[in-house]
Amino acid sequence: MGSQILDEQTGILPVLSLSQTTSFQQEIDEKRARERKNQINFEQQLFSLNFVQNQKMNPHVSLETAIGDCGPIRSGETVVIKRANYLADGSLDSAALDEEARFLRDCQMLGIVNLRNYVRGYALVLGEIRTETGHETFNDWIKSNPYRRENHLNTAVLDVLMKLVVTTEQIHKRNIIHRDLKEANILMGGTAEQPAPVIADFGNACYAGTVPQGRKISAGSLTAMPPEQFNSEAQARKESDIYALGVLMYHALTGFPSRSPDELEQFATSPKKEFPKLVASVRDRNDYVSTALAKVVEHCLNSDYAHRPSLAEVRDALSKEQAYAQCINAAGLKGIATRTMARVA
Ligand SMILES: Nc1ncnc2c1ncn2[C@@H]1O[C@H](COP(=O)(O)OP(=O)(O)OP(=O)(O)O)[C@@H](O)[C@H]1O
Ligand SMILES: [Mg+2]
Repeated sequence: MGSQILDEQTGILPVLSLSQTTSFQQEIDEKRARERKNQINFEQQLFSLNFVQNQKMNPHVSLETAIGDCGPIRSGETVVIKRANYLADGSLDSAALDEEARFLRDCQMLGIVNLRNYVRGYALVLGEIRTETGHETFNDWIKSNPYRRENHLNTAVLDVLMKLVVTTEQIHKRNIIHRDLKEANILMGGTAEQPAPVIADFGNACYAGTVPQGRKISAGSLTAMPPEQFNSEAQARKESDIYALGVLMYHALTGFPSRSPDELEQFATSPKKEFPKLVASVRDRNDYVSTALAKVVEHCLNSDYAHRPSLAEVRDALSKEQAYAQCINAAGLKGIATRTMARVA
């Protein structure tokens, strides 16, 4: 039917006779009815999964075969279901899930978890992200992929960081702030040679300039939170995501957390205290990182958002570092020579 829509020679839409319009309309109606039926079937299958109690804690299950032919989800495809959280009164927090679905839908692009379907107020159906070795978060991946292996600089780490920065820039272009770019929310896909980080969990996202209504502070969130995010009356701003990227970059390049988790915990309970200082400079931790990149990462981590760099500046520093690391690796310089070059840069 599609080939009849455009005139094959001119590529122009032909004028339709009344009977043709009616048959098109009929076809569209039938297609909609089919899709609606599939959607209802799918939702029934999802509801009938009979979630057991402890899935309140972990709302993710994989549907290996249950889905059938609903929309773009292929039969037998594994998807991940993220169910609405429970409120204190035992009801589902459907409004929060609706919001999350809206932000996810606005941000559908490479590098963002794929929203395959949405059962309104009940569950998000997400494309499964996994590497050859299984489900990995950024944290797991970094542990087995240090930036420096003996005298070799691991350029895959810089590529992963670059991809994260570029994707965050795209999110910000849509005027959305993620607000929870922590390690557990960065999933690793792709292959060992070409790892592809995917940003998940838009459960804390909001539009720039709005005052977010509350925030779930779950495991790992504290270490990725800049001081302004502790203030419940502050407007959401892009610089807060830039801080969180700084936390990820510091960890990826040095193998250590940037600030002491204990001190951050203390700050969270008495926010009048001064925001903790960095445990050590990037180059104190790893002097194979160039001075230029180290400075940019530390600026991202500045406690004052006005002093953080833009994502374009971060991208620029990372791309220079990619060239620099390739030079070091290509030269095959060993030991003291490599260290001296790293210091000079
Ligand atoms: N598309 C996916 N593919 C594979 N694993 C996923 C996917 N989405 C989520 N997960 C897994 O589920 C975990 C929790 O997902 P998500 O962060 O979206 O939910 P959450 O309830 O907000 O969790 P938390 O409060 O811990 O951040 C992720 O850290 C990841 O391990
Ligand atoms: Mg999460």
